[in-house]
Amino acid sequence: MAETVIENFNTLIIGAGAAGLFCGAQVASSGKSVCVLDHSKKPAEKVRISGGGRCNFTNMGTRPQNFLSQNPHFAKSALARYTPWDFCNLMTEYSLSWTEKTLGQLFCDQKAGAIIDMLLSELKKPGGELRLETAITDITADASGFKIQTHTGLIHCHHLVIATGGLSIPKMGATGFAYEIAHQFGHEVVTPTPALVPLTFSGALKDDFASISGVATDAIVTAQGTSFAEAMLFTHRGLSGPAVLQASSYWAEGKEVAINLFPVSHPAQILMEIRAQTPKRTLAAALCDHLPKRLVEMLGQRLDLPLASQMANLGNTALEGLAATLSNWTFTPTGTEGWRTAEVTAGGVATNGLSSQTMESHKQAGLYFIGECVDVTGWLGGYNFQWAWASGAAAGRHIASLSLDQKEA
Ligand code: FDA
Repeated sequence: MAETVIENFNTLIIGAGAAGLFCGAQVASSGKSVCVLDHSKKPAEKVRISGGGRCNFTNMGTRPQNFLSQNPHFAKSALARYTPWDFCNLMTEYSLSWTEKTLGQLFCDQKAGAIIDMLLSELKKPGGELRLETAITDITADASGFKIQTHTGLIHCHHLVIATGGLSIPKMGATGFAYEIAHQFGHEVVTPTPALVPLTFSGALKDDFASISGVATDAIVTAQGTSFAEAMLFTHRGLSGPAVLQASSYWAEGKEVAINLFPVSHPAQILMEIRAQTPKRTLAAALCDHLPKRLVEMLGQRLDLPLASQMANLGNTALEGLAATLSNWTFTPTGTEGWRTAEVTAGGVATNGLSSQTMESHKQAGLYFIGECVDVTGWLGGYNFQWAWASGAAAGRHIASLSLDQKEA
């Protein structure tokens, strides 16, 4: 018996997150029929909780170098064609304003909910649809397009956009759906791994870190040759804070992490100057000018530092050795906190199977992958949303620009 097609859209987008909603808005603005479908109760939940509720929606310094991918050139085209200013201009149209906190990171003054309202308005105003709590059970492709079986019926579309994100934070609805569809249509998937995630430790190191849980300090954290100078935080399980989260995206199991706790140009010289100016001070007191007291005490025990010695009693060799130790404290994390707390997913649908201009699959005409499910992962600081907007715009504007086929809705 022939199956009954109950609905027909020009474009169906699966995943009502940042990328999916934004892509839907681009398609809807061309007058083509578009539906954004999600299995969750609410759209864009990650936007809602992002940036502590203020959504760090972009970064003014966005460059392709701020992204990890097996092909570092892939993101260039989309990022160049939809810039942070483009999103700021859209916000201005909605009377939304922003504040730059640090390092080019822009946060929405009216909170994350206002950005979600804007995305929904951009989708719905020109006639785009949003359908929540809809489970997809099967997708097939033929010459006429795609048939998507949902638990409520069958949908036919000409363009199918997969925007279901990565595996981070399963309790917020994250699934590996995009990777399954990628495999189904013959795409490679770069092994997804938790990124922007706290590092964990075991044994004595874990105990030492836990003993100063809550202490933060500025540091340069390096993993596999890539360094980040920002704050780091000691936790009950290991290390967190921006510098560590950034480095975690580059870290691989079994590899070392190096921490420079004394990020000044000539650390040994600075210690010698302190000695010359205040010879009677203890090393502990001198270090406390640069590091939190509890951290100095923990380092004293762990690294066997002569904290009680007066600076005058420490020779040049001792100070040079101390500077070298503090500038390059290396150890091997046991692991990461994993998907439960990872802010993003590194890896994903391999870029070699996608057009960098349109995000369309090279394997299946009319199929697109956008946002976090693609093997493009931004640094901490608004870069991941900028990728969601840029990749959503690349696919959405391409679909919008296509001339309407007679058969299309
Ligand atoms: P996203 O994950 O947002 O959306 C995917 C959608 O697909 C979800 O609505 C999900 O329910 C749906 N879905 C999944 N599987 C499905 C299935 N099988 N069927 C139907 N629907 C399905 N980035 C940044 O730039 N600035 C920031 O401030 C932050 N802050 C931040 C905080 C926290 C706590 C997290 C976890 C993440 C961030 N991020 C961030 C990262 C950012 O949230 C993330 O990169 C984007 O939301 C990715 O957008 P996507 O639309 O690609 O996926």
